[in-house]
Order: sequence, then structure tokens, then C-alpha cells
Amino acid sequence: MKGRLTPPLFTDFTYDNIGLPRNVKIPGNPEPNLGLGGRPDIAKKDPNGDEIGKHKVMPLRNIAITSPYGHNGVFATLAQIVHFYNTRDTLGEVLNNRDPGFGKAGWPKPEIQQNVNRDELGNLKLTQEEEHAIIAFLNTLTDDYPIWGEDGRVPWGTPSPYQYE
Ligand code: HEM
Repeated sequence: MKGRLTPPLFTDFTYDNIGLPRNVKIPGNPEPNLGLGGRPDIAKKDPNGDEIGKHKVMPLRNIAITSPYGHNGVFATLAQIVHFYNTRDTLGEVLNNRDPGFGKAGWPKPEIQQNVNRDELGNLKLTQEEEHAIIAFLNTLTDDYPIWGEDGRVPWGTPSPYQYE
């Protein structure tokens, strides 16, 4: 059997606004990134702003070793982002990610309010055990690519930079 040419990337290559909060810890607290709808070529064809705030569904390969999470890095841990998917619309509200209650007492408003996906995420009704199971699954997506991969730019036997065991 022939191997796959493209390794599984764990993305469906679409774009969405998951309602990510602004990361006010970024030095200078820059304006939120408008994502797909902010690209001038897309904006030209998008008079109603339907693509504003949408970001690419990020690949989850090696996700356990690539924190922080989200395009602006507002989530420090997988536990945080999984809890966000589960409770974005039910937990309560805090001002921003400097609030000690961030992710515990509530979540800040989405950095871009337009086009937030409220159908597929935000109130998943997962138990704590189910959240833990998802995190455990995400932790299995870590490979030893620099050792086992066949990228010619990585000499055979190069030790993994990710010594996680
Ligand atoms: C429980 C199911 C899900 C899990 C565990 C999950 C996990 C994650 C994680 C860990 C990230 C951060 C990736 C990184 O920073 O490198 C992410 C980003 C993202 N996911 Fe999900 N995801 C789930 C469901 C969904 C669904 C249903 C959608 C779309 C309908 C979606 C769309 C996205 C998008 C657009 C991003 C990038 C968001 C941004 O940076 O603005 N995810 N996901």
C-alpha cells in the first residue's frame, strides 16, 4: 500500500470567526486582525463584510507543543481553549485576558463581533471529563517529525527540539 503524500493536518481548510477574545497582553495592544475579510482582494468582493473576523481553521498537528493558541495567542493552554469552545456563550463575561477571572468567571467579548459562529461552538455542554478526553486526544497529535520526517532540510537523526517526555 502506498503511503499518503500529505500527512494528516487536522484542518478542513475553511475559515471561521470562533469569537476569539482580544489579546490585550500583546505589546502595544494592536487593533484586532480582521482575518480573511481584511485582505484587500477579498474585501473588494465582500461588500457586506461576510468574511470579516474569519480565520483559517488552524491545523492541529503538534498542537500540544505550539502554545499559545488562536491567531493572537490569547489562550495559554489547551485546557483554556477547549473550555472556551465549550462555554464561550454560557460562562459569563470578564473585561479582558488580564482579568484573574479569565476562563474561570467568564470570557471577554469576541475581538470581532461580526460573523461569530454560534451554531457549531460556544455552548457544547461537555462535562469536565469530556473536556479532559478532548485534551488527551489533542496530546496524541504530537509527532517526532524532525526525527522521523523525510524533509531533506532536516538531516537524518536530528534530535527533536521538542523533548516532551
Ligand atoms: C471541540 C472541537 C474543537 C477543538 C478541540 C478545536 C481546537 C482548536 C485549537 C487547539 C485551535 C488553536 C490552534 C492554534 O493556535 O494553533 C483552534 C483554532 C481554530 N479553530 Fe478549532 N477546534 C474545535 C472545533 C472547531 C470548529 C467547530 C470550528 C469551526 C466551525 C473551528 C474553527 C477554528 C478556527 C477558525 C481556528 C482559528 C481561530 C482564530 O485564531 O481566530 N474549530 N481550534
